Amino acid sequence: MDLSGILKKAREKRFALTPSEIASLLDVEAGADRADLFEAAYAVKCMYSGRNVSLRGLIEMGNACAKNCLYCGIRRDNAKVERFHLFEDQVVRMAEWAHREGYGSVVIQSGEMESDEHTEFVAAILRRIAGFSGGELGVTLSLGEQREEVYRYWREAGARRYLLRIETSSPELYRRLHPPDHSFHRRVGCLRALRKLGYQVGSGVMSGLPGQTVGHLANDMLFFRDMDIDMIGMGPFVPHPDTPLGEGTTLSARYLSEQLHIGLKMIAVARLYLHDVNIAATTVLQTLAPDGREQGLLAGANVLMPNITDAAYREKYMLYPNKPCIGENAGQCRGCLSLRVTGIGEAILWDQSGDSPHYAARCGNRTGAV
Ligand code: 5AD
Ligand code: SF4
Ligand code: FES
Repeated sequence: MDLSGILKKAREKRFALTPSEIASLLDVEAGADRADLFEAAYAVKCMYSGRNVSLRGLIEMGNACAKNCLYCGIRRDNAKVERFHLFEDQVVRMAEWAHREGYGSVVIQSGEMESDEHTEFVAAILRRIAGFSGGELGVTLSLGEQREEVYRYWREAGARRYLLRIETSSPELYRRLHPPDHSFHRRVGCLRALRKLGYQVGSGVMSGLPGQTVGHLANDMLFFRDMDIDMIGMGPFVPHPDTPLGEGTTLSARYLSEQLHIGLKMIAVARLYLHDVNIAATTVLQTLAPDGREQGLLAGANVLMPNITDAAYREKYMLYPNKPCIGENAGQCRGCLSLRVTGIGEAILWDQSGDSPHYAARCGNRTGAV
């Protein structure tokens, strides 16, 4: 089938594409074909969420991590990182700010830590956010792999959504990206547990990884379908010089533009294949091009995650190099992103928690309310 036939089929029905058709879309070159791909994906996103963008205020709660992922700038063995952890009051203050400023939801993210103290710390924050917002402010956690009891405890304390990227759906590639004690199967088990506990579940992958093929990326799409994922946050890999996977790499303009190219195509293909999930235009896209996040929205994403962490901590949360908004504060990012969104003719859904239409549909509720 030619490109326009594949795009027509994909627009009409979710899951319509075969793995080889998915791969052929992921393979399109920059130019007219890619413009057609993005246009088709944007049309599908408009079918489900109109010309609107949902916001999640991102709180980077701490950069200590027990894990040692080979690509990540805050991995345990990176001794150059100055570690920080916010106090409970600081996190609550940032969430209050977000609520006041019309962000319908926040994401609380940190490195991975498993301890009773950490579990209680997070639960206390969740209860305080539920208290001051009367349950209005949606809370997404992004705190890595935890025991099922911990996920249950946090759900009961008020968390509604959880983000846990699978990074790649290929167990073999996963093994090459992580030390031997990091388990692909445990991560899949965590995603299943979260789903069972009633969370809206988000996952995602990195694209443009060394050794990754278009076949791997096509399989990532099938993984999202099979795991019935509600929200997707994915972005291209950017080599970090202080990590095993990034050391010695130079970031040429050509490399960065190739990473952006594959990252945008992943968004478009996820939209065309899965239709009703929330997809974030992640911050890493802005590392690759000044208008990278806007490009992500025009390729089919419908969510932005403005950083609302106090400027003092931002430079310590460098998962990848050249992260944008390091010198800016929460108010500046709010203003800047609002202009970026209106600049491409989209509107921000202020004061709405912005549930994934996929989640609403599987709860038997097409209107989007939980
Ligand atoms: N480049 C791009 N994304 C990265 N992440 C971690 N390190 C990098 C990197 N070097 C992503 C991972 C992780 C998320 C928090 O950040 O996908 O799940
Ligand atoms: Fe820790 Fe996440 Fe970075 Fe892995 S990717 S080292 S789990 S912060
Ligand atoms: Fe942070 Fe533009 S989004 S300064």
